[in-house]
Amino acid sequence: MQINDKSGVTEYKASQERYNTMTYNRTGKSGVLLPAISLGLWHNFGFVDSLQNGRDIIRCAFDLGITHFDLANNYGPPYGSAEENFGTILKQDFKNYRDELFMATKAGFDMWPGPYGNLGSRKYLISSLDQSLKRMGLDYVDIFYHHRPDPETPLEETMGALADIVRQGKALYVGISNYKPEETQQAANLLKDLNVPFILHQARYSMFDRWVENGLLETLEQNGVGCIAFSPLAQGMLTDKYLKGIPEGSRAAKNMSYLNTDTVNSNLVKIQKLNTIAQERGQKLSQMAVAWILRQPAVASVLLGASSANQLKENLKALDNLDFSEEELQLIDGIVG
Ligand SMILES: NC(=O)c1ccc[n+]([C@@H]2O[C@H](COP(=O)([O-])OP(=O)(O)OC[C@H]3O[C@@H](n4cnc5c(N)ncnc54)[C@H](OP(=O)(O)O)[C@@H]3O)[C@@H](O)[C@H]2O)c1
Repeated sequence: MQINDKSGVTEYKASQERYNTMTYNRTGKSGVLLPAISLGLWHNFGFVDSLQNGRDIIRCAFDLGITHFDLANNYGPPYGSAEENFGTILKQDFKNYRDELFMATKAGFDMWPGPYGNLGSRKYLISSLDQSLKRMGLDYVDIFYHHRPDPETPLEETMGALADIVRQGKALYVGISNYKPEETQQAANLLKDLNVPFILHQARYSMFDRWVENGLLETLEQNGVGCIAFSPLAQGMLTDKYLKGIPEGSRAAKNMSYLNTDTVNSNLVKIQKLNTIAQERGQKLSQMAVAWILRQPAVASVLLGASSANQLKENLKALDNLDFSEEELQLIDGIVG
């Protein structure tokens, strides 16, 4: 349910110091600089969540130099509600800052019933972006992604739709997500022929999931495309949240298919060992997890989720210590493989 929080709305003026501490990285070989840490709205921003809490997180992010916010058509729940809530917050707080924001949305997973609300057809991508723009109250997004590969639709059709979206002025840049290295290379070839600015690949990457190291990061570097790493904290496992059990209200406590008590329990020993290394570095585990990803030159930004502004503030301190000794890296490899 959407919270009617009119009484809680206070006028927002962004911090004058917002660009003083954040690091901005070039995205591939493009002109775009992204904050080293970006904010994703997959969880905690739907109608089931508190709009005021979401607003606090976004205000906090922008005040700390986070200019990049990541959405998708089906973030919520219910689907579409994270975009709608973001639109509300944008209208209330950020209408004077639109040009300081780098906004993303995506389509590729199931969104509406029937044959046209899923996967990678031109029909789906173009109509989904039109819906997203309406929900967010935007004229265009800065980047539009195809959210996952669709083995049934010709890649020429999907990439052609991305090209037309850019030509229509509905997105400035395009990206892909969850594509394997060879699929990424094929997409890059097509987008190059179509003269479309393909600047980002959004990929799951954390100490617990290193698949991008098997060819994807190399492919991206060869094509001048940046990587933005999602679920960098393995959805909260790479923090101190689960060190002493499963707290009420946490993602794992909700026992969803992608993070549940069994996943946490089976990783607990590794989490504890990694936490010891983080402590020896004078960092929280979450801060070490972010820094560890940023050591990769192909990674332009780490895309965090947060259920409170305090989590975000804590995680941003990762930027105070990004260096790893060879010994630390080997110890981490020894734990996570
Ligand atoms: N392209 C794709 O297919 C795809 C897929 C997944 C995600 N994404 C994007 O990536 C973004 C981030 O993904 P994610 O939310 O899975 O990332 P994550 O950063 O790995 O996990 C975020 C969660 O970790 C917990 N957390 C964060 N900081 C903490 C701290 N300091 N102490 C304790 N717990 C902490 C919170 O869980 P609690 O809520 O339990 O407090 C938070 O919601 C998404 O919002 C989305 O934009 C993209």
